[in-house]
Amino acid sequence: MIYSYLRFEKTDFDGVFKLVIDRPNALNALNSDVIAELQSFFEKIVNDCSIKAIVLTGGGEKSFVAGADIKEMVNLTAQDSMNFARKGQQLLLTMYNCPKPIIAAVNGYALGGGFEMSLCCDMIFASENAKFGFPEVTLGIIPGFGGTQILRRLVGEKAAKYLILSGEIISAAEAYRMNVVNRLFKTPEEVVNGAVEFAAKIAKNSPSSVAYAKKAVNVSFDLSMERGLEYESSLFGTLFNTEDQKEGMKAFIEKRKAEFKGK
Ligand code: CAA
Repeated sequence: MIYSYLRFEKTDFDGVFKLVIDRPNALNALNSDVIAELQSFFEKIVNDCSIKAIVLTGGGEKSFVAGADIKEMVNLTAQDSMNFARKGQQLLLTMYNCPKPIIAAVNGYALGGGFEMSLCCDMIFASENAKFGFPEVTLGIIPGFGGTQILRRLVGEKAAKYLILSGEIISAAEAYRMNVVNRLFKTPEEVVNGAVEFAAKIAKNSPSSVAYAKKAVNVSFDLSMERGLEYESSLFGTLFNTEDQKEGMKAFIEKRKAEFKGK
């Protein structure tokens, strides 16, 4: 896969890859080309068994993603800006529904569309210099890549309005206290390494279990408890048709490490 703004790199761990949004001159801002490349990337990897976990980060040490590209948006019409927002939302939904776990390693600014992108990942690890926020209201707009919907689901109405209505930028430590960030690291380098090591832990598990577990947690936002439990038990049952379930349980009984095949 050849991209202008993305770097996809192997790590030392089997099945764990780094995806770098690499547009450091614009603090990795999301223009239409970056969005299209990410969309094509996440569509292509869905059935690639060699990829077990992805760490998403930003190129350069200053920024994860400083938002949607303001220079591209400045002269958009209402219709064009709505189409632009829909493309960003479509990408973030594709990532949210991706069967592979994605850890955002936030190494600097995660603002606007960048904050939204980190929120659509399964976990957020952040370095101490990371900053999160929705500055859209200072630009005369609102978050357009899903921020109003996903942040409210994550931190509740009051905390979401606190950030979205004020445009306040918060530190990594504050985001950690709000349960937006899972783990804190000192430097941008450490956060990427920490995320890769944690991704390696996930990658040792059965890929089907990981994908189904992600799906089950995701749907819990939209279903009643009863429907959610029904859905959970259907996925639970489906996994008993896999070789991985046989191997995982057999390995436990035989007191050895399971060798999962993703089947
Ligand atoms: N879009 C386009 N270019 C951007 C950008 C963005 N979101 N963020 C930074 N850049 C560019 C700057 O214009 C600058 O380019 P030039 O060198 O060509 O002037 C370069 O990146 C470096 O940025 P700064 O010189 O501004 O760096 P700084 O360290 O002084 O400030 C910053 C860093 C506080 C993050 C500042 O760049 C900033 O406020 N950026 C905009 C953040 C923002 O408002 N994001 C939300 C965008 S709207 C959105 O995302 C809507 C949505 O929900 C979809």
